[in-house]
Amino acid sequence: MDTIAKVSEVPNFGKKVVTISGKEILLANVKGTIYAVENECPHQGSPLGAAFIKDGYLSCPRHGYRFSLADGHCAEHPEFVLATFPVQLDGDEILVDLG
Ligand code: FES
Repeated sequence: MDTIAKVSEVPNFGKKVVTISGKEILLANVKGTIYAVENECPHQGSPLGAAFIKDGYLSCPRHGYRFSLADGHCAEHPEFVLATFPVQLDGDEILVDLG
């Protein structure tokens, strides 16, 4: 697992994009739970930094497909799956397993 950001850098209901080894990772904070997903929509590649988050789903800003923050499945189009990464917190540190 790699430390990629601090919890204090991702406000509640906020997001932060970090670049690790050339890969953009979107961090989202939902009521203190931190999620890490790839910052690229699996549909047509839109960045997801401007996505809305509601009810545990992230809505792509381009066509509105909704992806589960927990496992990346798409509510409307199951053939598209957003890459998600395991997260652990160590104090204020966010550790992510990028595989
Ligand atoms: S590019 Fe994300 S829904 Fe189409």
